[in-house]
Amino acid sequence: MRIGILTSGGDAPGMNACIRAVVRGGLYYGMEVYGIMQGYEGLINGEFVRMGTASVADIIHRGGTILQTARSIAFTTEEGIRKGYENLKKNGIDALVAIGGDGTLRGGKDLYEQTGMRVFGLPGTIDNDLAYTDFTIGFDTSVNTVLSAIGNIRDTSSSHGRTTIIEVMGRECGDIALHAGLAGGAETILVPEKSYDLDDIVKKLQAGRDRGKRHSIIIKAEGFGLTSEELAATLAERMEGAEVKVVILGYIQRGGSPTARDRILASRTGVRCVELIKEGVSNAAVGIKGDTVVDYPLSVALAMEKNSHLEYQRICDILL
Ligand code: F6P
Repeated sequence: MRIGILTSGGDAPGMNACIRAVVRGGLYYGMEVYGIMQGYEGLINGEFVRMGTASVADIIHRGGTILQTARSIAFTTEEGIRKGYENLKKNGIDALVAIGGDGTLRGGKDLYEQTGMRVFGLPGTIDNDLAYTDFTIGFDTSVNTVLSAIGNIRDTSSSHGRTTIIEVMGRECGDIALHAGLAGGAETILVPEKSYDLDDIVKKLQAGRDRGKRHSIIIKAEGFGLTSEELAATLAERMEGAEVKVVILGYIQRGGSPTARDRILASRTGVRCVELIKEGVSNAAVGIKGDTVVDYPLSVALAMEKNSHLEYQRICDILL
């Protein structure tokens, strides 16, 4: 049995721990493992490297991905998928493991459906936007990175009596904002899943100021309706004497050493994935529900509807 492994889409802390789990798990069960560089781009270009136990030494604690990654437009076409499949066949690969987010798993599903290649998806993305799993690999690390930034920004916002809008990643999913915002004691959390009345935000901030509150923190996901600058300008205009600053955290959220939670999730799902391959399953997305590692056929996993954590926004409003 020979398996291939790749990482695709935006990188996430814990991807390396997951590669390690698949490679060492595969070797443990007597498989040969090939790494494919730069995600589906490398699959199309035939960038295959044989991996042994030493290839994944000393990476469990490292952010990024040793296999590198790319967002492949070519793999969204039938021709790209056909080329990728031909390279898998040429290298004698029996099953492919793809670590990544929604786009990566959808690419894997297309590959399985169009060619019959056995494909397995592991949830590697900071966004936590995959409905079939409670958590994705990298999300916990990212939330903790944001939390640490909120702490620093809170110090200086308080000294200067400012309102600060902290923009976090999440184009369609507000989970990073919701988790870091609640844990960081934000006044307001703004996410793409729900519109928010500007009057309500102003009222809330003004009530805090009237109580003598010197600063406020707004956590805003990048996909929320307004840009952070537009929001800052509107708030400054509507709250007399308020100084409103914007901090866009950006790629800092995607790097860094993975937390214990992310390393454990990566290791558990990675080993389960190899076991599914050994058991003869044709395709699956592996994730976690509660404390149980789960798997579903790719088409089932990707048709599920995401259970949003919007409840956190309500709690944040109560704790204001
Ligand atoms: O998919 C993860 C993610 O970090 C999103 O939250 C963000 O919008 C996007 O990637 C940024 O991607 P890129 O690396 O293409 O700029």
